[in-house]
Amino acid sequence: MHRSRIFSGIQPSGELHIGNYLGAVKNWVALQTQYESFFCIVDYHAITVPYEPADLRRRTRDMAGSLIAAGIDPAACTMFVQSAVPEHTELAWIFNTVTPLGELERQTQFKEKSSRQESISAGLLNYPVLQAADILLYKADMVPVGEDQVQHLELSREIARRWNARFAPHLSDASNPEASGFFPEPKPLLTPTRRIMGLDGQAKMSKSLGNTVGLLEDPKEIWEKLRPAVTDPARVRRTDPGTPEVCNIYHLHKAFSPPETVEHVAVQCRTAGWGCIDCKKVLLDSMESELAPIRERAAEIRANPSTLDETLAAGAERARSVARETLRETKELMGLQ
Ligand code: TRP
Repeated sequence: MHRSRIFSGIQPSGELHIGNYLGAVKNWVALQTQYESFFCIVDYHAITVPYEPADLRRRTRDMAGSLIAAGIDPAACTMFVQSAVPEHTELAWIFNTVTPLGELERQTQFKEKSSRQESISAGLLNYPVLQAADILLYKADMVPVGEDQVQHLELSREIARRWNARFAPHLSDASNPEASGFFPEPKPLLTPTRRIMGLDGQAKMSKSLGNTVGLLEDPKEIWEKLRPAVTDPARVRRTDPGTPEVCNIYHLHKAFSPPETVEHVAVQCRTAGWGCIDCKKVLLDSMESELAPIRERAAEIRANPSTLDETLAAGAERARSVARETLRETKELMGLQ
């Protein structure tokens, strides 16, 4: 039977943290056997903001190792590094010619990132065009992403529509908008987990805000961050009853603890049976049960760098065999060599 195809990308922006893990990667692991899956470490996207070359190389490899440690199975899906498949940038150039400039300037993520930067490169503006190329190169039906990528995906669909209308109208069926043209319009497959807040309880967990817990941190390091982490602000004294729903630690329990524990934690919080420190200790145990095996696998992977090289080379080769064919057809339809 034909499985639908999914594509998703992750930036090699430092160590994988539990926000990325719960918000994206765990979902990919669940989807990888259900769909024909392509997972890409998008280093060409990472260079749209200032960076150090040696750092980027290390982060790309660390990300690959962490993904495998977290359960991505390179035998079940195609996992690869974007810059190892040159067709991504070639198709991105082509798509630049059918992308309205106004749409790019309207992207919220561009507006946000460019407001934080002194000099803004054309690459930052064209970031979503490269993202469209990533997805459409594999003619992916669906893209597992969070809410923050929905606008980029809308643009990917618009690029597909425009390119199809201009260069392959004979392959679209005007009477049936659901029928896919040469490039099918990719749909978002929204991540089921609500977004993970940082330990400050103020903003989304994010590397740039320094409020993360790394997926590979050891329990001592995790505890140093959990102990002072913000809880229900109404619990000033140990004896004040709390409201679990407003507490970030409770939401982490929901992500890491078994349902009985989550239930118990809620009762102990509401009745002030436990203090926040007690609650955090139980969370640390739950996290340890899930994260210790991941840490062990990551250490094994790090100890065998040539195995990781081979895995990434095989992934890139598999991705390329699909990408090459799409690009060949695309260029032919456009009168290119
Ligand atoms: N822009 C995405 C992010 O920041 C990463 C990404 C690049 C991506 N290419 C993609 C996601 C293709 C999905 C599909 O999270």
